[in-house]
Amino acid sequence: MLKERPNSVWKLPTGGYVKFGAGVAGDCAYEATRLGAKRVLLISDKGIRSAGITEEIEDVLKSGGLAVEVWEDFQSEPTVELVRDCSRFARDAKPDVVVGLGGGSALDIAKTTRMILVHGGEPLDYIHPPLGKGKQFPGAGAPMIAIPTTSGTGSEATDVSVMAVGEIKTGIAQIPMLPEVALIDPMLTVGMPPRVTASTGVDALAHAVEAFIAKRFDQNPAPNSPEARPGYAANPLSDLLAGEAIRLVSENIRCAVNQGHDLCARSGMSLASYLAGVALESGGCTVPHAVGHIIGGELHIAHGTACGVVLPYYIDYVASVDVERFSTLAGLLDPAGRTYEVSRETAQLSAKLLKDLLTDVDLPTTLAEIGVERGKLESMAKATIETQGWAVPLSPRQVTGESLYAILKNALEGSFFE
Ligand SMILES: [Fe+2]
Repeated sequence: MLKERPNSVWKLPTGGYVKFGAGVAGDCAYEATRLGAKRVLLISDKGIRSAGITEEIEDVLKSGGLAVEVWEDFQSEPTVELVRDCSRFARDAKPDVVVGLGGGSALDIAKTTRMILVHGGEPLDYIHPPLGKGKQFPGAGAPMIAIPTTSGTGSEATDVSVMAVGEIKTGIAQIPMLPEVALIDPMLTVGMPPRVTASTGVDALAHAVEAFIAKRFDQNPAPNSPEARPGYAANPLSDLLAGEAIRLVSENIRCAVNQGHDLCARSGMSLASYLAGVALESGGCTVPHAVGHIIGGELHIAHGTACGVVLPYYIDYVASVDVERFSTLAGLLDPAGRTYEVSRETAQLSAKLLKDLLTDVDLPTTLAEIGVERGKLESMAKATIETQGWAVPLSPRQVTGESLYAILKNALEGSFFE
């Protein structure tokens, strides 16, 4: 009987618990001790050291009576080699608790490291096939505290650890990787430069928008077993979280970029990033992130910039499939919080509002601006369809190589469909 029902199940993985607010990073020694720490491995990067944040956190941990080892030997996006080096360092350091401090890169490295610390092996053993062996972690890793210093990736809320194998971005996504504790402290983001604030903020916006419009859980066929349930699908809870994240970004990103010391705007962006991360963990990402991974890998531009530049043109393509939902999206994107009537025109307006937001925070609005050439569009579309199967099928309107080429052509020229 149960198997005959239409699919009616959705899921939302959650980690341990979240503490949010200005100054909360100062709780890290207390939280590490609560998790059983005597020795802590602090994983961060050189940029966070030069911003003075690493030293502050180190001091808090040491004043709490903890021994601290630091691994911060990188400044770029994670590669499989970097994660391997960090996990080898961790095996020698033998910490009881791992603290990830930084943007998505540091947090992602910390997530995989704390798992390998307990379960052994190399990152490639656990990375998704075909590049890795796809082994599952059989249980929990060393306890982890995530302290984000940007507001965008939402890595503190997800079980995903992204890393590059050669030129291809891939990674590990397994439930036990969710951090036990996230300390989200907007004060740590106050010194972020405008360009990084804009790019990471648009990454959060892309997570939220993509989760908000992704294919819904009840559009999936009923699975034959619990293992066959789809990893991601939009649902009532991801709708709430994604919708609020979109509203918060629309309300705060311009101020956070232009007046970086405004703690109110910074708090709004930190909350948006977290909410969007949880929404993404449940609802999933779709085409803009799929294309963003291809563009980012080839041109080495910031992840949020790469996903964001495609977002308006993709939304323009899909808006007609659900006039009500995309009209709601337009209202959420309005920086003045205006509501709009439900109409086809309002639904299409959401694409224009996204493009306006990119302009307002001084990010590129066309693929031409980031150096994509017309001759590359076809191969980019093909690579996206062929290699990004985790995201493309979540599109609410089917995207083929041909339609994606048309979307990318619009993105190159900055134009919308008629
Ligand atoms: Fe992202």
